This record gives sequence, C-alpha cells and structure tokens, in this order.
Amino acid sequence: MNPTSSPTQAAIAMMARLVTIKSVAPHHFQLSLLAPAMASRALAGQFVHVLPRAADTSDPFLRRAFSIMAMRGEEIDILFRVEGRGTRQLSLLRAGDNVDVIGPLGRPFDVSPFHVKQPPLPLLVGGGVGVPPLLCLAGALRARQITPLALIGARTSNEVLGATELASMDVRTRLATDDGSVGHHGRVTDLLEHTLHELPPEASAVVYACGPYPMLRAVAQIAARHRTLCQVSLEENMPCGIGVCNGCVVAMKQEQNKDDYGRYRRICLEGPALWAHEIEWGER
Ligand SMILES: Cc1cc2nc3c(=O)[nH]c(=O)nc-3n(C[C@H](O)[C@H](O)[C@H](O)COP(=O)(O)OP(=O)(O)OC[C@H]3O[C@@H](n4cnc5c(N)ncnc54)[C@H](O)[C@@H]3O)c2cc1C
Ligand code: FES
Repeated sequence: MNPTSSPTQAAIAMMARLVTIKSVAPHHFQLSLLAPAMASRALAGQFVHVLPRAADTSDPFLRRAFSIMAMRGEEIDILFRVEGRGTRQLSLLRAGDNVDVIGPLGRPFDVSPFHVKQPPLPLLVGGGVGVPPLLCLAGALRARQITPLALIGARTSNEVLGATELASMDVRTRLATDDGSVGHHGRVTDLLEHTLHELPPEASAVVYACGPYPMLRAVAQIAARHRTLCQVSLEENMPCGIGVCNGCVVAMKQEQNKDDYGRYRRICLEGPALWAHEIEWGER
C-alpha cells in the first residue's frame, strides 16, 4: 500500500445515535453507535474521532480518537477508560443521544503477511485500552480461518479487557497483571518474550501490538531480538485527525518515501498502525 495515499477519503462525518453504553470494568465503558455507512467500510486498526459531549454543548472543544473495537451489523463499538475530561463527558452520554463522529479514519493493520499458503502465527499483544483494536483484528483474522494467540496485560484482574470476546471467537488468550491477581504476575511483554522463545524453529509469527508507548517500545525491541515482524498501533493526541495540523507526528528511522514530511509520519493518516522497525523509538 502506498503510505501517502489517504485512507480517509472514505471517512464520513455524521451524527450517530448512541445505541448502548455500559460499564465493562471499573472506569471502563463500552459504547455502540448506529453508523451503518461507517460500520460497512471500517477495517481493523482504524479509529473514529468523537466529540465527547452532548449535541447541545460545546465543551470539550476537541475530538478524541477511539479505536474501533467491533463492527456489528450497522453499529460500531468502542471501549474506553475514563482518564480525563473528554472521556468523563463521554461516559455521561446515554442511549438515544446523538454523537458527532468522523470515521473510519487512519490506516488499518497490514495483514499482507497472511497472504501466503502457510501463514505465520499472529500474536496480538494488548495493554489496557490498547486491547480494543486487537479484538477487531482478531475478528478479521478469524473470518479468514486464521487463529491468533492473544497476550493481554492489565493492572489488575477486573481491568482485563476483551477476554470474553476473545473466548467467543475461540482465540487462545494468556493474561498478565501488574499485581498478579490473574495470569502471569508481571508485564505482558514477559509473555511475549516467553511465547517467542517457545516457538519451534520452523514456525514464524507476526506481532500486532497496541498499548502505552513504553510497552510498545519494549514489544518492538523483543520482536526485533527474535527477528519477528511487528506492527504497532500508536495512540497520540490528535487535534484534527485528518492529516492537516501535524499535531500527531512520529519520527521514523529514515525517510520512507519522498514527500513533504521527510522522516515524520502523521499517526492519524499514515498510522495509527505502523511497522515497529521503521519507527525512531524515543523516551516517553
Ligand atoms: C488512534 C487512537 C486510538 C485510541 N483508542 C482509544 C481506545 O480505544 N480507548 C481509550 O480509552 N482511549 C483511546 N485513545 C485515547 C483517547 O483518545 C484519549 O486521548 C484518552 O482516553 C485521554 O482521555 P481524555 O480525553 O478524557 O483526557 P483529557 O484529559 O480530556 O485530555 C487529555 C489531554 O490531551 C489533551 N487533548 C485531548 N484531546 C486532544 C486533541 N484532540 N488534540 C490535542 N490535545 C488533546 C487535553 O487537553 C489534555 O491535556 C486513543 C487515541 C488514539 C490517538
Ligand atoms: S491529528 Fe492533525 S495531522 Fe494528525
């Protein structure tokens, strides 16, 4: 795929009816929007840009980005954690409210490694609210008869996201929690290290990861050490979400192609899914 071509050509701006909003874990909400044209064209790894407020108010002013967790018929699901003002306002919306949303935006996960007779094992590595886009990817892979292995990390057992959805798709899942309340006591990156170490020499894998930046940097390092392809979905603040403000750029190791942005890529447009070995990972 040409990295400068715009996947946002197919994006739609609309008022979507909020169908359901429910608490799925402490401070975490799942929200379904009635958005038929978006649901029919969205791909795993894309996101929606939402004004997190009731239609008759103007605060907060800026949109927030949320990964698409699932497309179900005419609906799009997102899952978010209440972090600050934007997500708090979003959690206060109710079924029947109209939500101003643009999407689907961004470049989806690149699944070209699976266009072969003997596809590699997809390893889905999610931390916290990085899990939703991986659920969408798991669904897309299962639709192609490919079974991933999911490695899910959370702070504690009741913040583990996606385990039910993954089980319903028959996706094997390994868990890690910071406090050891369920699964491995430690980081999800420990699970990745073990899993890649255990792979038989003739087997190959491709890692897809989403989560906090330090986790993604560690995932990229582990994948590189094991000579395993790795794609990450980055989550930066996105003022415009459509490639015009340059507020979301990330530095790449070298120029990927000759355009006005040189070594930089706009996460909203050329991402959020990017190949980890091309990113200039920094301190954050
Ligand atoms: C591609 C992508 C996918 C994401 N997917 C998810 C997801 O699935 N689930 C989830 O919980 N979170 C997701 N996020 C993070 C989410 O968009 C929020 O930024 C995050 O939850 C912060 O919460 P808040 O808006 O309540 O914080 P706030 O405190 O309201 O805002 C956080 C800070 O960022 C600033 N800020 C907020 N919005 C913008 C903006 N548009 N441009 C510049 N600065 C801004 C605010 O001024 C504040 O300083 C995603 C982000 C991206 C980029
Ligand atoms: S958010 Fe404006 S260019 Fe990416």
